[in-house]
Amino acid sequence: MERDQAVTYKTNGQINIILNNQTKEKKEEKISASSYDLKIPKVESKHSILKEIENEMSSLVGMSEMKRMIKEIYAWIYINKKREEQGLKAGKQALHMMFKGNPGTGKTTVARLVGKLFFQMNVLSKGHLIEAERADLVGEYIGHTAQKTRDLIKKALGGILFIDEAYSLARGGEKDFGKEAIDTLVKHMEDKQHDFVLILAGYPKEMDNFLSLNPGLLSRFPLVINFPDYSVDDLMEISRRMVTEREYQLNDEAMLKLKEHLMTVKSTVHPTKFSNGRYVRNIIEKSIRSQAMRLLLTDKYNRDDLLTIKGQDLVFSEEKVNHDKI
Ligand SMILES: Nc1ncnc2c1ncn2[C@@H]1O[C@H](COP(=O)(O)OP(=O)(O)O)[C@@H](O)[C@H]1O
Ligand SMILES: [Mg+2]
Repeated sequence: MERDQAVTYKTNGQINIILNNQTKEKKEEKISASSYDLKIPKVESKHSILKEIENEMSSLVGMSEMKRMIKEIYAWIYINKKREEQGLKAGKQALHMMFKGNPGTGKTTVARLVGKLFFQMNVLSKGHLIEAERADLVGEYIGHTAQKTRDLIKKALGGILFIDEAYSLARGGEKDFGKEAIDTLVKHMEDKQHDFVLILAGYPKEMDNFLSLNPGLLSRFPLVINFPDYSVDDLMEISRRMVTEREYQLNDEAMLKLKEHLMTVKSTVHPTKFSNGRYVRNIIEKSIRSQAMRLLLTDKYNRDDLLTIKGQDLVFSEEKVNHDKI
């Protein structure tokens, strides 16, 4: 009996049921046929979800805390399923999360990835991402906020409701309608029939303050992930990957120029005003357009010309504007 269970466990739960209804010989026959064909691929195909997500995560620079946390969540869900299969108690930890980080540190990117992971693991039925901010939740008169918040949750059912700059919901204190939005969210996130995962995101300092004003919230968000600011080296690596992905390359001069620029910006712009990955993405996209213009004007279109971004193509103007404002 024990042996049978061990074998059927390694194939999968569905086969387990079929086998138990077979006669003894048929059972033996099926086990020997299936244990060879199915055992290893089945086990692998389950972890292929993790592999695929890990593969996607590997395209992201740094973020070691997030990567470890995602693996931990995967392990936790997977083991709970295995425990359920064996009739053991499965933990009921909530999967709502808090993402703390400055702009452009990858919060939205990771929220999308989490949606995908939960969809593939059958935790969420759709896995889509609804991005919202204060104005999408908070209304103008009594009762309006609860309605708006409920409508938003409805859209997010089966997926992720991602609320950016969530601390702004606590902006006006007790009398503000933001409080009503928080209460409505809390009520719905605990209601088991609503399958959605709530992610609250925002600047680290403001999020800590938000939590201290709403002490009941912390326990409802057991998963807190920090998204640190990128170093200049991280930003250079992000740029390199972004240009490679678009089939371009930065020549040495462009790399040096970009690096020097990033060092200056990082040392002068306040961290909450610097948009990290988004900032370099904007530079890359503008520089690609400026390279196109240069090529057009010089009438040069060989493969090397088409591939290469030179120092003179780099466009930093946006930051200069921001920079002056600060
Ligand atoms: N670690 C990273 N590696 C590669 N690209 C990144 C990384 N973090 C952010 N990016 C890129 O930076 C941009 C902004 O990221 P996003 O997830 O929108 O940030 P946030 O939501 O925190 O403001 C996106 O183009 C994203 O692909
Ligand atoms: Mg975002």
